[in-house]
Amino acid sequence: MLEQQTGIILVAAGTGERLGLGVPKAQALCGGITLLEHALSTCLESGVAVHTCVVVPAGDTVLRDIIDSVTGSHQHRGIVTTVDGGASRPESVRAGLAALPSTISHVLVHDAARALTPVNVFQRVAETLVQGAQAVIPGVEVVDTIKSVSGGQVTGTPSRANLRAIQTPQGFSAGLLRRAHDTPADGHITDDAMLIESLGIPVNVVEGAAEAFKITTPQDLILAESILQRRHP
Ligand code: C5P
Repeated sequence: MLEQQTGIILVAAGTGERLGLGVPKAQALCGGITLLEHALSTCLESGVAVHTCVVVPAGDTVLRDIIDSVTGSHQHRGIVTTVDGGASRPESVRAGLAALPSTISHVLVHDAARALTPVNVFQRVAETLVQGAQAVIPGVEVVDTIKSVSGGQVTGTPSRANLRAIQTPQGFSAGLLRRAHDTPADGHITDDAMLIESLGIPVNVVEGAAEAFKITTPQDLILAESILQRRHP
């Protein structure tokens, strides 16, 4: 994997407004440590990357100190750097891309908010890239019936069998991801794969994990706490 020159962009520059704690979400505590510590530890433990770039809110020193302490306390190969994020997730990913060296051939983009993502999801995505895929995303089956709605009325019900809830880390060949982010895009961009799809390039889906859910609301934090208690009673 390391021969592939894989890098990870860990985006942690969100405000966390929906969590309502008054601090950036990556600083929220879960099981006594911050979401960023959980996410960065997993990135390093996965062993898939030679370079991990953590994107933090501009001017944030708390998260930078946390990154130094996680980096110092983990046995890992490769280096960890930090860069200031932007006002939107795509801007933060672009800041991470600009900070990765040009020798990086493959990139995994991961949300710090998916703090409990298991190591094996990183490995599955990275292995699929090694096998030659240009774009790989993890997904899980959905339990709800999903409908599209417009003006208060249902406009469609896609078959649930064909739907997946998409997670991170999402893996790409670095050149392709750079090209996708350099191409003007319409609408609200909620993941990197959307940009690849709009270039007409196939995106592979591998199995994600229930525990890779995005911690967004106070209820999510309660669920995350109970998952951690089950992992480490
Ligand atoms: O806002 P959303 O839930 O889509 O955020 C997903 C991830 O993107 C989070 O880990 C968040 O920290 C990150 N993000 C970012 N910069 C932004 C907005 C979100 O790094 N401006």
